[in-house]
Amino acid sequence: MSAAPVLSVRDGHKRFGAVHALKGVSLDAYRGEVLALLGDNGAGKSTLVRCISGVHALDEGEIRLDGDVASLSTPALARGAGIETVYQDLALFDNLTPAQNFYCGRELAFPKWLPRGLRFLRAREMDREAASVIDRLKVRLPRFDAPVALMSGGQRQAIAVARATVFARKVVILDEPTAALGVRESRKVLDLVRQLRDEGNAVILITHNMEHVIDLADRAVVLRQGRKVGELKPERANQQELVSLIVGAEA
Ligand SMILES: Nc1ncnc2c1ncn2[C@@H]1O[C@H](COP(=O)(O)OP(=O)(O)OP(=O)(O)O)[C@@H](O)[C@H]1O
Ligand SMILES: [Mg+2]
Repeated sequence: MSAAPVLSVRDGHKRFGAVHALKGVSLDAYRGEVLALLGDNGAGKSTLVRCISGVHALDEGEIRLDGDVASLSTPALARGAGIETVYQDLALFDNLTPAQNFYCGRELAFPKWLPRGLRFLRAREMDREAASVIDRLKVRLPRFDAPVALMSGGQRQAIAVARATVFARKVVILDEPTAALGVRESRKVLDLVRQLRDEGNAVILITHNMEHVIDLADRAVVLRQGRKVGELKPERANQQELVSLIVGAEA
């Protein structure tokens, strides 16, 4: 773990009308660590993630990347700044194939000096790379050239996770990446999380699976009703403490 955080959220607030979803949340993430972001349903986890990845803007507070205030007003800007996100609601394009989903908005085009419309899209290369990553996840797809609308929830989730691992540069956020996966596929996704961490990314993992948290996370931050209520090292010994923080009861 390096000394300075790669990502910092300072005193973030977010309101949706009368709902005050984030109430002054601060959080640091470091390269080479898995940070678990925990909390009950409605605690504000996905809202925080969407603010970091450019889907929503914070109403107050700031986000810093490598120490500089970052303007992440669109998902494309956040991705350009090195933040890859697997959203809880997945955000794949139904009518596109897995490879097209992988490269949507950043197609491998060549040569660069030709006008955009004349560029030869390296479709085969994109297919090959997307297929090889998905293959590493040991997820079987019915057909690689079919639109993802025809695929199961777990298959779609695997495609979204695989896509993030290809483009990860700094921060990878996984919002319940194993929620729709079987045991074998979940294990593969967790392997990928370790790999992303070992490659020097800060990985932010949202999950309700306490076993995964204890197995994998170096640190856990707990949100409750839009506030950060605790931060601790997840270990078997303090599992009860973690659960109490999440649900707001005494240990
Ligand atoms: N786009 C939106 N419009 C209005 N309210 C929203 C919106 N997104 C989230 N909220 C509200 O903000 C609060 C936090 O929701 P959020 O999705 O961040 O919770 P979460 O911690 O991700 O929960 P879960 O574990 O169920 O995914 C909830 O009360 C939710 O209803
Ligand atoms: Mg959520």
